[in-house]
Amino acid sequence: MSKIRIAVIGCGSIAKYRHIPEYAEHPNVEIVAFVDPIIERAEQFAEQHGGKAFADYKVMLAEVKPDAVSVCTPNALHASLSIDAAAAGAHVLVEKPMAVTDAEAEAMIKAASDNNVHLMVAHNQRLMPPHVKAKEILDSGVLGKVLTFRTAFGHPGPESWSADGAGSWFFRKEEAIMGAMGDLGVHKSDLIRWLLNDEVAEIGAFVGTLHKENTEVDDNASCILRMESGAIGTLVASWTYYRGEDNSTILWCENGVLKIGTHPDDQVIVELRDGTIEKHKVGAISTNEKQLTSGIVDAFIESIVTNTKPSICGEEGRASLKVILCAFESQETGKFIRVNE
Ligand SMILES: NC(=O)c1ccc[n+]([C@@H]2O[C@H](COP(=O)([O-])OP(=O)(O)OC[C@H]3O[C@@H](n4cnc5c(N)ncnc54)[C@H](O)[C@@H]3O)[C@@H](O)[C@H]2O)c1
Repeated sequence: MSKIRIAVIGCGSIAKYRHIPEYAEHPNVEIVAFVDPIIERAEQFAEQHGGKAFADYKVMLAEVKPDAVSVCTPNALHASLSIDAAAAGAHVLVEKPMAVTDAEAEAMIKAASDNNVHLMVAHNQRLMPPHVKAKEILDSGVLGKVLTFRTAFGHPGPESWSADGAGSWFFRKEEAIMGAMGDLGVHKSDLIRWLLNDEVAEIGAFVGTLHKENTEVDDNASCILRMESGAIGTLVASWTYYRGEDNSTILWCENGVLKIGTHPDDQVIVELRDGTIEKHKVGAISTNEKQLTSGIVDAFIESIVTNTKPSICGEEGRASLKVILCAFESQETGKFIRVNE
């Protein structure tokens, strides 16, 4: 079988730590192009992995005609780049948040469908071993219905992560549109929808910029959610957990509690009402300091090779984005927002 020809658009940190190494290791992949307006970044990867460096993705699409692309750029560019790539006949793996408005997300789904290409959103939290294990336990029914939950994602902010450090696009409204909510909150809106196999019906949120300087985007959000099943819970995103990073989720259910990421060695813990405790050592959750293979690239390539719609498809990314957009609407209006009305 001929290899899938991949172009990576945006050669910053997520490309460097996840997309590029995972493509490079994949036996069915050839990386044919790297794109970044800071051309040295693209050139460095081209030297390392082969392929050609471009400063402009449109030139790359026309010249290289890749089979598929990864879109690893600032948030505000996700939609236009993905739509152009789909129109050029390339399958698209786009980073989260897939877009910055619901209309953009809808247009991306349409572009993929019109051009008969796959669109996948890099919601890698679904593939992390603790979350896979937690989903298996929830789906087994042993815990009964989820009644209430809390999910949180907080770290010290993107300064030490982004290729551009403290001067990053992450802090600029025009490029990022959203701050901690687009960076971290959307991971958890996606996780909770998937874990509970349920949709967020209603959300109320406080979203604010509490501590980061020189930014117009949010650095903290605390949200309350009511799911369609009736379960209620909280979702927190923060860029100001300077110590005490948190990437945990706890679900209190009819028959006990499921704790994910609350203990460094036992990543998933089940405590049943009868006192039984099960501890699962299934491997850690990735952090900014310790990047683990995400599985996202393998899943994307699998979709292409088998011509099967990705499970983390555009519609899934759109629903998870919508929750976050409604949180901003709640902050602006001071009202609870019904997500699907
Ligand atoms: N899935 C995850 O866990 C995860 C983690 C971090 C970031 N992300 C997402 O990945 C995306 C990129 O974030 P990052 O951390 O790599 O940021 P980064 O700042 O490290 O890198 C972004 C890169 O995009 C480049 N770029 C800007 N405009 C471009 C254009 N028009 N064409 C090509 N490249 C362009 C920049 O020069 C920079 O090199 C964001 O949407 C972010 O939310 C996802």
